Amino acid sequence: MIFITIRTKYSNTFSAGRRYVPATVILGAQWGDEGKGKAIDQLAANSTWAVRFQGGNNAGHTVVYGDTTLKLHQIPSGISSQHCSMVLGDGMVIDPWVLEEELDRWYQLSGERPEGKRLFISERASVILPFHRLYDSADKVVGTTGRGIGPAYRDRIERVGIRFADINNIVDDVEYLQNTTKRMNGQLESVGVKPSIEWEKLQSDLKWILERYSDSIKPTGLMVDFALKNDENVLLEGAQGAMLDIDQGTYPYVTSSVTCRANATHGAGIHAGHVEQCFGITKAYTTRVGNGPFPSELSLEEGPGMHMAKVGNEFGTTTGRPRRTGWLDIVALKESNRLNGYSGLVLTKLDVLGGLDEIKICIGYEMEGKLLHMMPTTSVELAKCEPIYETHPGFEAMTETEWIEMANKSRVENIGFGALTQDMLNYVRRIEKLSGIPIVSIGVGPDRDASIASIGGPFDI
Ligand code: GDP
Ligand code: IMO
Ligand code: MG
Repeated sequence: MIFITIRTKYSNTFSAGRRYVPATVILGAQWGDEGKGKAIDQLAANSTWAVRFQGGNNAGHTVVYGDTTLKLHQIPSGISSQHCSMVLGDGMVIDPWVLEEELDRWYQLSGERPEGKRLFISERASVILPFHRLYDSADKVVGTTGRGIGPAYRDRIERVGIRFADINNIVDDVEYLQNTTKRMNGQLESVGVKPSIEWEKLQSDLKWILERYSDSIKPTGLMVDFALKNDENVLLEGAQGAMLDIDQGTYPYVTSSVTCRANATHGAGIHAGHVEQCFGITKAYTTRVGNGPFPSELSLEEGPGMHMAKVGNEFGTTTGRPRRTGWLDIVALKESNRLNGYSGLVLTKLDVLGGLDEIKICIGYEMEGKLLHMMPTTSVELAKCEPIYETHPGFEAMTETEWIEMANKSRVENIGFGALTQDMLNYVRRIEKLSGIPIVSIGVGPDRDASIASIGGPFDI
C-alpha cells in the first residue's frame, strides 16, 4: 500500500480549544478547475473526513504527489490520506459505473479497497443511470460534460429519480420499472435520441448497484454529524465553481447544482452552523470549459491566452476539452465572495504566468457605455461586457524545480510570501486589495508541496 505520511507540521488550526470543531468548506471561486483537488489533499493531512456535497462525475479533481497523479471524479480528494474517511454526500448525483472504475484505479495504485471501510455513499444521493447520460448527449447549448448530471438532477427535482436508498424498494416492482423505462424512452425520443432503455436491463443494473455498493450505502449525514460532535475535522469539498452555480452563476451556462457555501452543509446532511471557515480557490488567471460569456477571455491561438493554455496545460480533467483562458476577473471574484464569504483565498497557478511581459487584472466592465463593477444578471448582458484592465509588470519564467525550491525556502525559513520576488508579491497583494480577501496559499506547481502558505495560516503545512 502506498499512502502519504501524515505531515505533522501542519498547524492544528481547526481544533484548537474547541469542543465542536467546525467544518471547513473548499470551493471553486471561478468557473471550475481552480485546483480544489490539490487544496483538499493538502488539508486532508489534518482532517478525518472529506465530503463531496454536490455535483457528480462532471468534476475532475487532480491530486499530485511525487510521480503519482490522481484524477478524481467522484471520490473525495482526501483519499491519499489514509486516516481520512470519505463521503459521497446527499446532494450528489453519482454514476456507479464511473465510481467502480475510479475505485479499481485506486486499488491498482494502492492495494486498498476503501468502500464500506472509509468510503461511504449517501442513501440520499441520486443514481445516474445510462438514461441520464443518453439524454445529456442531446445538449447543444450549454456544452455540458455529457455525464448525465443535469438530467439526473432534473429527475430528482421532478421527484421521479432513484436515490440509493430507494433501490431496495423498487428493484422487484415490475410495474414501476416498466413505467419508468416508458417515461425514459419517451423523453429520449423527444430530444432525438434513439429510445433504448429496457426494463429488464434497468432491473439488472439496479441489482448490480445494490450488490456492488451494499456495504457503502449509509446515512452519511448522521455519520458526519457524529464526527463533528466527536471533535473531528471535516472538509466539505465543492465541485465546479461559484460562476457555474445553478442559481447564482452565468445561467443558463451553468451546472445543475448549487455549488456555493450555502449548499455545502445541506448537501452533506449537516446544518450550516458547523461551518466557520470557507476557502475559495482561484487561479491567478481565469479558465472556463464549455459555453457561456467570459469577459476577460483571450485568444487561445496567440499571446498570453495561448501561453496560459500551454504552460498551464489547460485541458479539462473530465472531458479533455481545451479550456478557454483569460485574465483574472476581479468582478467575478467579488461576486463569488459575496456568495461565499471566503475566510481566505488559495491563489493557484501563479507559476503559469511566469514569462509574460505584463499581467492584466480585469477590474470592471464596460457595457453599452456604462461602467459596471458588478456582474449583470443575464448571460446576454454579460456577453456584451468589455473588460477594463489594469496592467502589472510580469515576472520571469522559472522551471518546476526552481518553483519547488522557492516553496521549500518559504517553508524551511518560515518566511511565507517573503519567498516571492517583489513583482510576484505586488501582484498577490493587489489581488488581495481588489478582492478584499486575504490570500492564504499560493500555488506554484501541481505537486502538493508546490505551494507557498501564509505564515501560521491554515495551509502552513
Ligand atoms: P479542480 O477541478 O479544481 O480540482 O482542478 P483540476 O484538477 O481540474 O485542474 C487544475 C489543474 O491544475 C490540475 O492539473 C492540477 O494538477 C493543476 N494545478 C493545481 N495547482 C497548480 C499550481 O499551482 N500550478 C500549476 N502549474 N498547476 C496546478
Ligand atoms: P470541477 O469540479 C469546469 C461545466 C461544463 C459546462 C457546464 C455544465 O473539476 O471544477 P454539466 O456537465 O455540469 O451539466 O456542464 O459546467 N463544468 C465544469 N467546468 N470544471 C468542472 O468541475 C465542471 N463541471 C461542469 O463544462 O460548461
Ligand atoms: Mg476540474
